[in-house]
Amino acid sequence: MEPRFWHEKWQLQQIGFHQQQVNPFLVKYWSCLGLAEQAEVFVPLCGKSHDMCYLAEQRHRVLGCELNPIAVEHFFTDNELAYQVEQIGEHAVFSADEVHIYQGDIFTLPHTLTAGIGGFYDRAALIAWPESMRQQYADALAKLIPANVSGLLITLDYPQDTLKGPPFAVSPDWVETHLAPHFDVELLECVDVLADNPRFVNKQVPWLNEAVYKLTRKA
Ligand SMILES: C[S@@+](CC[C@H](N)C(=O)[O-])C[C@H]1O[C@@H](n2cnc3c(N)ncnc32)[C@H](O)[C@@H]1O
Repeated sequence: MEPRFWHEKWQLQQIGFHQQQVNPFLVKYWSCLGLAEQAEVFVPLCGKSHDMCYLAEQRHRVLGCELNPIAVEHFFTDNELAYQVEQIGEHAVFSADEVHIYQGDIFTLPHTLTAGIGGFYDRAALIAWPESMRQQYADALAKLIPANVSGLLITLDYPQDTLKGPPFAVSPDWVETHLAPHFDVELLECVDVLADNPRFVNKQVPWLNEAVYKLTRKA
């Protein structure tokens, strides 16, 4: 989606994608990555996700990237974290304790910034892009992830013709075909979460699969 779409969503607080709880797949599978406590974790298109608090609680340094300044400010104020802001290049960097969020476009995030990361976490980032822009995002993500670094990817899949995204449907086939050139892909779990998603139920979407993958950047 174009930046204006997301800025409007945050301005109007139409943020149905924001989860009140930490994502259960994150809690269940994060330890599979075997990351050291102090490892830095990159969270692309992070919004104001509580998942970043979970990662910080695992003693990781969190490096987020988010386009919208309201989202970033709300992350810190909602969590009662005093933050500082500095301008680095074209990104405003909001920092408190172990969380650093680069507010701006992921496509212009310098690769040097993520050169030292030990892991990454993509929930509702890949699926935020329509198919026409998804590969561009996947290529940008791959450029930001150093060789041999692993992360979790959480996707949704459903019959795309039953609902207008975002979130957009991303099938296991799409993941395998388009991400395999950059990453080793391992499907960890896939469950039907339709009953927990009234927007999809109301639109009579027949099924809604949430999947979690382990991705490891190829050398
Ligand atoms: C569907 S939301 C997911 C947010 C978060 N991952 C979560 O789980 O709540 C997608 C987020 O990506 C942000 N975004 C969209 N385009 C972006 C871009 N080019 N660079 C950085 N962030 C972007 C939006 O502002 C929005 O907050």
